[in-house]
Amino acid sequence: MKQFTSVVLFGAAVVALVGAAGTEGEISFEYHRYEELRKALVSVWLQCPTISRIYTIGESFEGRELLVLEMTDNPGTHEPGEPEFKYIANMHGNEAVGRELLIYLAQYLCNQYQQGNETIIDLVHNTRIHFMPSMNPDGFEKAASQPGEIKDWFVGRSNAQGVDLNRNFPDLDRIIYLNEREGGANNHLLQNMKKAVDENTKLAPETKAVIHWIMDIPFVLSANLHGGDVVANYPYDETRTGSTHEYSSSPDDVMFKSLARAYSMYNPVMSDPNRPPCRKNDDDSSFKDGITNGGAWYSVPGGMQDFNYLSSNSFEITLELSCDKFPNEDTLKTYWEQNRNSLVNYIEQVHRGVKGFVRDLQGNPISNASVSVEGIDHDITTAKDGDYWRLLAPGNYKVGASAPGYLTVIKKVAIPYSPATRVDFELESLMERKEEEREELMDWWKMMSETLNF
Ligand SMILES: *[C@@H]1O[C@H](CO)[C@@H](O)[C@H](O)[C@H]1NC(C)=O
Ligand SMILES: *[C@@H]1O[C@H](CO)[C@@H](O)[C@H](O)[C@H]1NC(C)=O
Ligand SMILES: [Zn+2]
Repeated sequence: MKQFTSVVLFGAAVVALVGAAGTEGEISFEYHRYEELRKALVSVWLQCPTISRIYTIGESFEGRELLVLEMTDNPGTHEPGEPEFKYIANMHGNEAVGRELLIYLAQYLCNQYQQGNETIIDLVHNTRIHFMPSMNPDGFEKAASQPGEIKDWFVGRSNAQGVDLNRNFPDLDRIIYLNEREGGANNHLLQNMKKAVDENTKLAPETKAVIHWIMDIPFVLSANLHGGDVVANYPYDETRTGSTHEYSSSPDDVMFKSLARAYSMYNPVMSDPNRPPCRKNDDDSSFKDGITNGGAWYSVPGGMQDFNYLSSNSFEITLELSCDKFPNEDTLKTYWEQNRNSLVNYIEQVHRGVKGFVRDLQGNPISNASVSVEGIDHDITTAKDGDYWRLLAPGNYKVGASAPGYLTVIKKVAIPYSPATRVDFELESLMERKEEEREELMDWWKMMSETLNF
């Protein structure tokens, strides 16, 4: 992950100060072209330097930076025990609302933090939050440079190579569906395959950069912001049989519904049961309470949502935020008002389920240990410091921690809606166990020989 050089940052900062339209901290509800987006992020960073950082994960095909704004109490590092969250928007370059909402959200969090809002201070202190307002900056520039207010439905959707980025991810659904039938891994399906990713010429540079990002950072939860409809869509997106419409549940169906609902319920338009379809002939029959299973709506192979769940620990949903993909600028404030509480509440979902550390008996962290839940065929793994987060809906569960060379430990856990229940695991290594058994055997042998007077 390339860091800005200080020279570049300084230059951009000066421009941002000079070019800023409003006073510091004001949210300006307008579209941000590439340079303006960059300035908007820099101005958040300048206003809240102790809780933010800007970095880039790579470049688009035409060489624009894939910028990320991070917000947390110690920017730039993974703190052991602190979960990581990400929002990605504008993957379809012509779907512009999410891109703007992430800029406004960053500004809002910075403002509220400075004004002493306890909810926001807690959230920023206890979460590492990443915002990528545009995964497809080339597509956005193309869409935005069309003359007039009405934008074409497709222009700018793909990247500059003509690749639809939300069909471009490795299709791990096909692998998981095979593994369900024939046995095999139920998580991290791209394990040890980073090289194959790098060498794959079918992957767009934007896709590759995001794949690396997903696999390098221990994200727990994320959402992908789109436009063209109004609904919170959850996995799986690709159907098991290949049919166009079919409910395609993942092992975490219950939790995914709860997560999607946590977004839709705070958005009065999305959750309105009487909302007419965006267009007269749209088939919204799979929508309920503002949420839908992806496959039940329409099958999407190669999407980013399922890729997150199947290649990493991150649970991801896809948010459709507006009937119009590129609405008039004067509607942006309304979209912000409809989505503000949902955007904040969804980040807070990262603090649900069960979390803790997996260590050995000496207290050393065990990374890449598996955390499994009885009855849910999807394990998650511990991060570098042995820390883990396992999102779960309320209920009673048996949670197990295991790692090669260690004895598995299983614990019963009662989980409320929130916050996450803390459960740590201490695993005994099999080597230690063998050593103990050998010593016990020796003691027994000594005792026997003394008793029997050998
Ligand atoms: C603090 O932030 C929360 C979450 O966005 C919001 O609901 C609440 O209204 C804010 N409080 C104040 C005093 O603005
Ligand atoms: C993590 O564990 C899995 C299964 O035990 C293994 O295949 C994989 O290579 C491990 N990954 C790393 C980075 O050690
Ligand atoms: Zn889209």
